[in-house]
Amino acid sequence: MFNLATSLMLWSSLIISYAYTMHAMAQLPRGSSTSRFYDFKVQTTTITKLCNTKNMVTINGIFPGPVIYAQEDDRIVVKVTNETPYNTTIHWHGVRQRRSCWFDGPSYITQCPIQAGQTFTYDFTLVNQKGTFFWHAHVSWLRATVYGAFVVYPKTGVPYPFKYPQEEHIIILGEYWKEDVVQIERTTAASGGSPPVADAYTINGHPGPNYNCSNNDVYEIDVVPGKTYLLRLISAGLNSENFFAIANHKLTIVEADAEYTKPFTTDRVMLGPGQAINVLVTADQAIGKYSMAMGPYSSAKGAAFQDTLAIAHFKYLGAVTNSVSLPAQLPSVNDNLAVKTIMDGLRSLNPVNVPTKIDTNFFITIGLNVQKCHSKTPNQNCQGINHGVMAASMNNISFIMPKISLLEAYYKKINGSFTEDFPGVPLKFYDFVNGPNNIPNDTQSLNGTRVKILEYGSRVQLILQDTGTVTTENHPIHLHGFSFYVVGYGTGNYNPQAAKFNLVDPPYMNTIGVPVGGWTAIRFVADNPGVWFMHCHLDIHQLWGLGTAFIVKNGKGEVETLPPPPTDFPRC
Ligand code: C2O
Repeated sequence: MFNLATSLMLWSSLIISYAYTMHAMAQLPRGSSTSRFYDFKVQTTTITKLCNTKNMVTINGIFPGPVIYAQEDDRIVVKVTNETPYNTTIHWHGVRQRRSCWFDGPSYITQCPIQAGQTFTYDFTLVNQKGTFFWHAHVSWLRATVYGAFVVYPKTGVPYPFKYPQEEHIIILGEYWKEDVVQIERTTAASGGSPPVADAYTINGHPGPNYNCSNNDVYEIDVVPGKTYLLRLISAGLNSENFFAIANHKLTIVEADAEYTKPFTTDRVMLGPGQAINVLVTADQAIGKYSMAMGPYSSAKGAAFQDTLAIAHFKYLGAVTNSVSLPAQLPSVNDNLAVKTIMDGLRSLNPVNVPTKIDTNFFITIGLNVQKCHSKTPNQNCQGINHGVMAASMNNISFIMPKISLLEAYYKKINGSFTEDFPGVPLKFYDFVNGPNNIPNDTQSLNGTRVKILEYGSRVQLILQDTGTVTTENHPIHLHGFSFYVVGYGTGNYNPQAAKFNLVDPPYMNTIGVPVGGWTAIRFVADNPGVWFMHCHLDIHQLWGLGTAFIVKNGKGEVETLPPPPTDFPRC
């Protein structure tokens, strides 16, 4: 369904005709050839999977949703019409939204949700950006079903920095629940405990033959022996990080989070929710059918996970149709070394412009908490560890969503929805990774909508430190509005004397898996005015409060100033 025969000359026309035939594109680009218009109807669609039929929210009735195709520097205009009873928003994950914060999409951060029956048109430009992105709903857990790929080609005539692939395929990894995901989120929040694991992993929406009633619900790629393919891997999972591998085939990483990397060849990759990795695969094995497998990477102690693998097929031309596929080998579920090896392999292709002087240096702990049970019905509402209520925090502050969007409150100077006192360092220093030794039932995180103000143009370094307060865990931390250089990472507590930084060719990413029981240092220049969410992309952790927001002030003159909100901006 996703293969797109490509050649440099054919791009533009293919992009248009493909999108037009496949995905109900509203209008062909008009006027400027670099504007691309899409119509997204948020709909309730009946889907049958795993012997179970449910109504779920989709865009235009398609799951995964329509692919957006564009070229670097294009303007993207997406009219979103909400035909469901659910509040919705769409976030364009990885798009840096230069001077277009109003269109970023996270609910209650940059906008109020698009309510039932309402319409909102997202309008932004892909300034200096190309590669593999995705879009997803950014309200409640709708993201579990409302997501799709967003592919941005280089400008016409600009080649890839690697040999041209025979074909390209989008591979979106997802998690699927038989129940209504919005209901699951509500039930989980009310319980104080952990959510149920997904009923299945999916590859482009298909669980594959390992699950009940799913023998024919398998995604398949047909390949020609000897040819090389580009796979655009995207993790749209909700609460799970995942390994991906193809039986007997090597993967060569060439891009991570929509930025080119030095080619790095590996047997497998790991993607946390929010990450995208492009790999080249050569069909250099004996003619046959090989499995592409997606399985769990679960670094938290004692956490439940789905352990059945999603399988898709990598099928050679000439292979017997119903031949058995050769199984792919995935690392064990808690193979932290495998994850480190992949991370070590991510280097920017070209020398980069990392800030070497830092104006603003923050140390931010990230982790889980347990709050004391205050409910009169503890059996119902305090199902967390030690009969407490689960929470999560940055610098021990659990982020509470405001009632109107932070961006509106900030822009219109409406008082009372946030405070500007997010701490730049933890309130207490202790052995973050190893302490405390046993999990108490009250780790005393504070609730608040606390943000940090950044001066326009300030050079920012964040040290993100995982904690073992409840359990250490790899957290995929995502920053809106920027890509950041991952200049360092390691295990244990961050030690500035011992830490080694790469200021030569660090990867430039938008989501980074902070190592389990370890730390990561990231750097960026705060040169994009607006309000930018930073959060764990595991939705359960986001629900529990693992996030904060940065307000980047305007600079000087028009090009450093956020324009006013659009006229159709949703109201709360
Ligand atoms: Cu992909 Cu705030 O999210």
